[in-house]
Amino acid sequence: MTESAREPELMQKIVSLCKRRGFVFQSSEIYGGLKSAYDYGPMGVELKRNLMTEWWTFMVTSREDVVGMESSIIMHPDVWRASGHVGNFNDPLVDCLVCQERFRADKAPKVQMGAATPITLGDKARAKLAEDKVKALLAAPDATGQAVDSIKRDGMTILGTAAKEREYVCPNCGSPFLSKERNFNGMFRSSLGPTDPMAAVIEALRVGVAEGKNDEELRALADQVMNRSAVFLRPETAQGMFVQFQNVQQSLSIKVPFGIAQMGKSFRNEITVEHFIFRSCEFEQMEMEFFCEPGSGPKWLEYWKEQRRLWWEGLGLKKDKLRFRAHGQDELAHYSDGCFDVEYEFPWGFDELEGIASRTDYDLNAHMQGSKKKLHYFDPEADDPETGKKGWRYVPHVVEPAAGATRGVLAVLCDAYAEEFDEQGELSRVVLRLHPRLAPYKVAVLPLVKKDEQLVERARAITEQFLRAGIAAKYDEQHTIGKRYAKHDEIGTPYCLTIDAETLSDTTVTIRFRDDKRQERIPVQRAVEIVAEALRTGRL
Ligand code: GAP
Repeated sequence: MTESAREPELMQKIVSLCKRRGFVFQSSEIYGGLKSAYDYGPMGVELKRNLMTEWWTFMVTSREDVVGMESSIIMHPDVWRASGHVGNFNDPLVDCLVCQERFRADKAPKVQMGAATPITLGDKARAKLAEDKVKALLAAPDATGQAVDSIKRDGMTILGTAAKEREYVCPNCGSPFLSKERNFNGMFRSSLGPTDPMAAVIEALRVGVAEGKNDEELRALADQVMNRSAVFLRPETAQGMFVQFQNVQQSLSIKVPFGIAQMGKSFRNEITVEHFIFRSCEFEQMEMEFFCEPGSGPKWLEYWKEQRRLWWEGLGLKKDKLRFRAHGQDELAHYSDGCFDVEYEFPWGFDELEGIASRTDYDLNAHMQGSKKKLHYFDPEADDPETGKKGWRYVPHVVEPAAGATRGVLAVLCDAYAEEFDEQGELSRVVLRLHPRLAPYKVAVLPLVKKDEQLVERARAITEQFLRAGIAAKYDEQHTIGKRYAKHDEIGTPYCLTIDAETLSDTTVTIRFRDDKRQERIPVQRAVEIVAEALRTGRL
């Protein structure tokens, strides 16, 4: 099955609009594409940048207690040893023995032990091959004890198998015939400078340390040797802020509680990339580490949960499509004393948009241990709870709202996408009802006739007025006026201004509102004011 065929129909339409209108393209498309990476086109880059600017304004520049920073993508490898990413950032990797799909065991469809597990392939030819494979697997000496003659094929589906070993099946074909689970580290490993990690592996083999070792031991050995000179692309922006906590605090003499925020690229070698830009290997995050007094984590967790709700709702996301899901005790990381996921109802169901976690003092402690440097904070005005004396030295606790920027773009696109139908039930238009501050263009300026020089000149002058006011405007003269409206509806441009003969004689202009297609005649000089007001209030 192709990737896009697995997506719900609505997602396929959004993916198609993204390509058609220059939001998101498959990376390296002319070379067949790279499954896990995406490029943002002229509209997409504006939308993503607008979203990230909104986050930065809300989280940093409109507050006194949060500052920003930008750390490097490649950090000292010991950062990732101390944080636990080298040892623990593993996903359980499994191969389907029938269709060869490689997937994450913990994300696979669950089934009850003993339940029937029909296996469905994309066409009859593949189903026939799969049937032979299933029969061969059942006939093998280490098979699960099911009778080969219980297997039947009905078109593209193989019936008669059951879950005998695992409580999950292949997400592609539903097969219960699976390889052993192996740990797969999600970090991208590379080397810095002119080092040759293979030379170290060859040297290890030459001195004979590989002798008598099985595959697993050999793999561990190679990993160990390669990791000696390895660096990693960061899998989250967060660690950059933990390791610079003291530099930031001391350089600004900033008092706890305060936050450090950062936006930027992160990289994870995901086993399953899915749902377009929802889960990719290269993506962008918007994270903030809020350092606070020991014991105050739960209070700040509630505070940031509310702030983040206000932010997502403020971008116009439908309230009934947003929800907060508290992590159960069994889901919490061992260092966390509370965590919420902000979930959005994507076309395939509710899924994570952001995590808001109380991480206690785990990260700073881990980096104190790893670096042997003290990362305490001294509050001269607070009483030390242990001694009762003035002056308290402690390791701050941290509350972290960690959002996906690229995932946020997808949520915004899904939320804004709307189709309208005429009285006969035919699709009459597709419109992106983006919040005006997120829209790539805020206004399109359209001369009614492109051959009329006076109209063109006037339209260009009006476009210039918007640009001078810092408002992204697009002069557009191609195609009929109807096609231009349709194009700007699909891009999400909140307003179209149509320049016609009357504009030349009485300096009025037709303004068309994207959301309800309403058209009004307004004085030209009010146009900038109307658009600026929409940007301020979010309302058209
Ligand atoms: N510092 C904590 C942290 O990184 P996370 O839940 O792993 O937590 C935070 O990531 C957010 O980053 C997620 O809620 C999601 O929006 C985004 N994210 C994580 N992995 C992603 C991926 N492979 N592709 C796109 N976005 C991703």
